Parts: sequence; C-alpha cells; structure tokens
Amino acid sequence: MAGINPVLAALTRGPVADWLTNPRGGVDERALRDAVHGKIVLVTGASFGLGEATARRLAHAGATVLLVARTRDALREVVKDLADAGSTAHAYPTDLTDMDAVAALTERVLAEHGHVDVVVSNAGKSIRRSISDSYDRMHDFERTMAINYLGPVKLLLGLLPSMRARGEGHLVNISTIGVRIPPAPRWAAYQASKTAFDVFFRSVASEAASDHVTATSIYMALIKTRMSAPTKTFDNIPGMSPEEAAEIVCRAIVDRPAKISPWWADVAEVATAAVRRPLEAVVSKRFALGRRRKELR
Ligand SMILES: NC(=O)c1ccc[n+]([C@@H]2O[C@H](COP(=O)([O-])OP(=O)(O)OC[C@H]3O[C@@H](n4cnc5c(N)ncnc54)[C@H](OP(=O)(O)O)[C@@H]3O)[C@@H](O)[C@H]2O)c1
Repeated sequence: MAGINPVLAALTRGPVADWLTNPRGGVDERALRDAVHGKIVLVTGASFGLGEATARRLAHAGATVLLVARTRDALREVVKDLADAGSTAHAYPTDLTDMDAVAALTERVLAEHGHVDVVVSNAGKSIRRSISDSYDRMHDFERTMAINYLGPVKLLLGLLPSMRARGEGHLVNISTIGVRIPPAPRWAAYQASKTAFDVFFRSVASEAASDHVTATSIYMALIKTRMSAPTKTFDNIPGMSPEEAAEIVCRAIVDRPAKISPWWADVAEVATAAVRRPLEAVVSKRFALGRRRKELR
C-alpha cells in the first residue's frame, strides 16, 4: 500500500488533477471585472465551501454580492471581510427549504436592490447512504429534494420574472458530474434531487433564452469541502479546492456557455447511453462485492 500512496497523491493534486477536474484553470481577471463590476449577484450557500469562495471572488472583482444561507455568523464574517477589503456584500440569512422564507427573500432582495443580474444556485446537501440503510428514512429523500430541488425552484420563480422583464440576466446551476455518469450506489437521494433540478433548470433555460436571460449548468467534479469530507474514498480521488471550483463559476458568468463539465463526463455520458446494461451490471457487481467483503470482516 505504501508504494501506491505517492501515485495516488500525485493524482489527487497537481497537473493530473487539474486536467481531470478543471483543465482550463483560472478565469481572466479583466474579463471577470468587466462582466461583474457593478452587477448584483445572488449566491446561495455562500456561508461555506464553493458558495463562500465564489462570493468572495465575485465581490473582489467588483460585484455587489447577496449572500444566502442559514448560518448567520458565517455570512456576517464574509460580509465583514469583504467590507474591510472595500468590496460590497449583503447577508440574507434564509433557510431555502422554507418556501415562505424564500418568497420573503426574493421580495426583500427586489425591494432593496431593484433587480438581480446573476443568480448562482449553489446551496445543497448530499447524503451518501445505501438503500438498505434508508428503508425507515423517508426524510433523507424529503430533505434532499427540499434543498437541492424545491428551494432553488422557488427562488427562480421569485427572481426570473423581473430578469425576463428587464431582458437580461444569467443563471448558474451548480450541478454535479453525478447526474451525467452512471448512477452510483448509495447516492440515490442526492443524485435524484440534483437530477430533478438539472432537468428543471435546462427546461427553464430554453424558455428564458427568448428574453435574453442566459443559463449555465456546471457539472462539478469533486470539490474538497465539508460536504465531501465525510466520504473517505474521496481522499484518493482528484479534487479541487473551493477556490479552484469558484474559478469555474466565474468562467460561467463571463462566457455564459450552456454547459461546463469535465471532458470525461461527456465521454462517460455517451458511453453510458451506448452500453448502459453492462455498465450498470459492473457497478452493481462491484457494490455487491464490497458489501460481502464488509460482512466477512
Ligand atoms: N463538494 C463536492 O464534491 C461537490 C461536487 C459536485 C457538486 N457539488 C455541489 O456544490 C454545491 C456546494 O457544495 P459544497 O461542496 O460547497 O458544500 P458545503 O461546503 O456543505 O456548502 C453547502 C452550502 O449550502 C448551504 N445550505 C445547505 N442547506 C441549506 C438550506 N437549507 N438553506 C440555505 N442554505 C443551505 C450551506 O449553508 P448553511 O449550512 O449555512 O445553510 C452551505 O453554504 C452543492 O450544490 C453541491 O451539490 C459539490
């Protein structure tokens, strides 16, 4: 095992990891400034992880950033840091699973700022649990749907009308490669809820485009955050820091492509469509083997 560790370490950071997760690297500084200076950007899940890193990056580039999440103290800290650095940010502590609270949030944001130029739908929750451990846990499925699907839907229902009426704006969905590669064991609740919003978002994008509101779906690879930390198998998989992943979000705002994804997820999606049954059989076999090994231990 000792021999393989340096190889795994080399794969989890450095050029190989970059090539697998974010081959294009950082966004052009001037282009970012031109795209966001003086713009109002709402970022959900801005208290930790990718959302926090994105909010900080955009505010430093001249955006007025509206930070949404539940943890007031964390939001306050980000606002203070940004204010100390001469940037502008406002905290909107909100539980996005509370539909009345989301309605109040969109009303307040529009009353206080008039409009929003960019919405980054980033807040999320993941659960990794096998279905046999979930038989009496319907709440796992309700909770993931609430934060990964219904909350962001409600948010867009509140903000989209004014964006379309103004005839400009950009939407960003922080999705996951998990919705593009074969469904993985233990991720039913998370992947189903992320897939639901991915489909909703792309459908809405096809309508909003006629009013010049553009949209980018970002299929993120692994990011080393508090969300991914409990999954020990991720320690040996190439992953990005929140700051590296935030560069991808910034690129989405500058270039406004319909999709950003690691190159291999495109390949995996095509392969999955072509050889779905054998691929799912391999995944299933692997899961069964792992389970057996655990039982024998
Ligand atoms: N980490 C990865 O490997 C990875 C890979 C692909 C995609 N993603 C996606 O990237 C996004 C960010 O994940 P992350 O890794 O940065 O996770 P994270 O560090 O756990 O951050 C999640 C954010 O969502 C917020 N949030 C959670 N529940 C909320 C609620 N009910 N209401 C409002 N805000 C809520 C959290 O803030 P509060 O707790 O303060 O509310 C936090 O700011 C997620 O959509 C995730 O699905 C992550």
